[in-house]
Amino acid sequence: MTKYKPIRKAVFPVAGLGTRFIPATKVVPKEMIPIAGKPLIQHAYEEAKAAGIEEFIFITGRSKEMIEEHFDHQPELMQTLEARGKTDMLKKVVDSQMEEGSLFLTRQAKPLGLGHAVWCARKLVGDEPFAVILVDDIIQSKRGGIGQLIDAYEETGGNIVAVMDVPRKETSKYGIIDTKGGQEDKLVQIDGLVEKPRPENAPSTLSIIGRYILQPEIFQYLEAFETGTGGEIQLTDSMARLIGKQPFHGLRFEGQRYDCGSRLGFLEANIALSLDDPEIHDDVEKILKHHIDADTSKSNKTGKPYVISNK
Ligand code: UTP
Repeated sequence: MTKYKPIRKAVFPVAGLGTRFIPATKVVPKEMIPIAGKPLIQHAYEEAKAAGIEEFIFITGRSKEMIEEHFDHQPELMQTLEARGKTDMLKKVVDSQMEEGSLFLTRQAKPLGLGHAVWCARKLVGDEPFAVILVDDIIQSKRGGIGQLIDAYEETGGNIVAVMDVPRKETSKYGIIDTKGGQEDKLVQIDGLVEKPRPENAPSTLSIIGRYILQPEIFQYLEAFETGTGGEIQLTDSMARLIGKQPFHGLRFEGQRYDCGSRLGFLEANIALSLDDPEIHDDVEKILKHHIDADTSKSNKTGKPYVISNK
């Protein structure tokens, strides 16, 4: 038993426009784009569920209804699969259903920024610590990203964010932490936070990635609606206000992180997670090898004929 209030709720901000993925995201929400056969949102849901989360709070927006429908009961599909004896597919449908009464939805009318999206969850979160999961970030690890944060929280309490080292030239893409001591430690104390600093101004190269444990006091700061970098209401700015008042740590998580909101990160995640899937591993390897050997982009060759099993 932990001495701190348990983390029972997770907030999933999914109201962003996904502009880096246009035209794919003109109609289909970014969160529904599949990585290794499963929509991004389902990867995030499964990670949260495995970590013991009981309430799943989605901050949705216009044209995002498909996301909640994905987790709904699908009677026609289930009947058809059952009648055809497709039990493996039936299992996949059942696995992607959410337990009734565990999905909570609220809407962000305008995508004013991540801080604003999280603020929209204030009534659903109430007066308890909670997790925030950015669906774009996939963490490939044995114990999921948010599970690792919860494990650390049980030791430290307070607020914890997932951090990783990035090349200094890339600091302007991330929230960067300032830490006086323990630069190399797994768990670092956070003394300051800056959103997207230029490399020369970055206090470190430790960047925040999309997993957070936050205390409900964050809402007091979010409701000031102050705009920060990029004219958006930034979560980082309100988190910075909690420093010194409550414990605040960064956890160097174990595992590989993929930014699936970018085209290359999305591609890499698809390759990595598909290679990790025993059902298709061998064929994925064969496909990759074939394309590298043939180098079709340069020479216009199609390479030697090859056979993959038709699963
Ligand atoms: P991003 O900035 O990575 O996502 O926000 P985006 O805005 O959808 O994508 P691009 O940059 O235009 O391609 C991180 C997360 O916060 C959510 C997004 O849906 C994403 O999951 N978000 C962002 C909101 O829910 N509301 C916002 O106002 C902004």
